[in-house]
Amino acid sequence: MTPDELKKAAALAALTHIKSGMKLGLGTGSTAKHFVDAVGEKVKQGWDLLCVPTSEATRKQAEGLGIKLTTLDETPVLDLTVDGADELDGQLRLIKGGGGALLREKIVASSSRKMIVIADASKKVEVLGKFPLPVEVVPFGLKATAIKIDQAFTWTRNEGKVALRMRDGKSFVTDNGNVILDCALGRIENADKLAAALSSIPGVVDHGLFIGMASLAIIAGAAGVETLER
Ligand code: 5RP
Repeated sequence: MTPDELKKAAALAALTHIKSGMKLGLGTGSTAKHFVDAVGEKVKQGWDLLCVPTSEATRKQAEGLGIKLTTLDETPVLDLTVDGADELDGQLRLIKGGGGALLREKIVASSSRKMIVIADASKKVEVLGKFPLPVEVVPFGLKATAIKIDQAFTWTRNEGKVALRMRDGKSFVTDNGNVILDCALGRIENADKLAAALSSIPGVVDHGLFIGMASLAIIAGAAGVETLER
């Protein structure tokens, strides 16, 4: 199976966790896109689902599929969010934000009773950090914020390079009007402490470490689909 077929297999396996009447958070990225397509199919079959998208891209996809959308202002508590990840470890700690949607993804997941991660097996790692950690930052004072982020790495015994995410020769701008610093750490030490340190920096809006949020991972690999529970 190709990586995309594995992503689709994980997404379809997550369907067994939804039922008509649920309020869902819809993730962002190429894996979540398969899940949103599958939700669209269920809606066509007559299922009643009310969903909150985690990005403008997912909102557009869901609208195109005729999925009924709401906002967290109208519907502040969701039953379930299904989303992809850039990395996950054995404790279901995640790195997210490769697609730049980490802030809304975290707000939506934290407003859900349950979060399920869907991924192909390449995303499962022993230690988080090979994938550069995205940190969403307010553009004002960017350099000063980057220095504080670097200090947070030193303080938590991490080390790595911080790079402003670019797209088409310009800084990448998130759906929230912020920019992203991708932090190449190689191996994240003291992930919990690092998450707290990053969150305490003025100018950091949020970071891609999702800790204690996902309770189930559905991972598709060459040998089939496996689940990991926390
Ligand atoms: C977007 C994300 C995605 O879930 C993550 O980047 C995984 O994407 P994909 O399913 O395309 O590999 O966090 O902000």
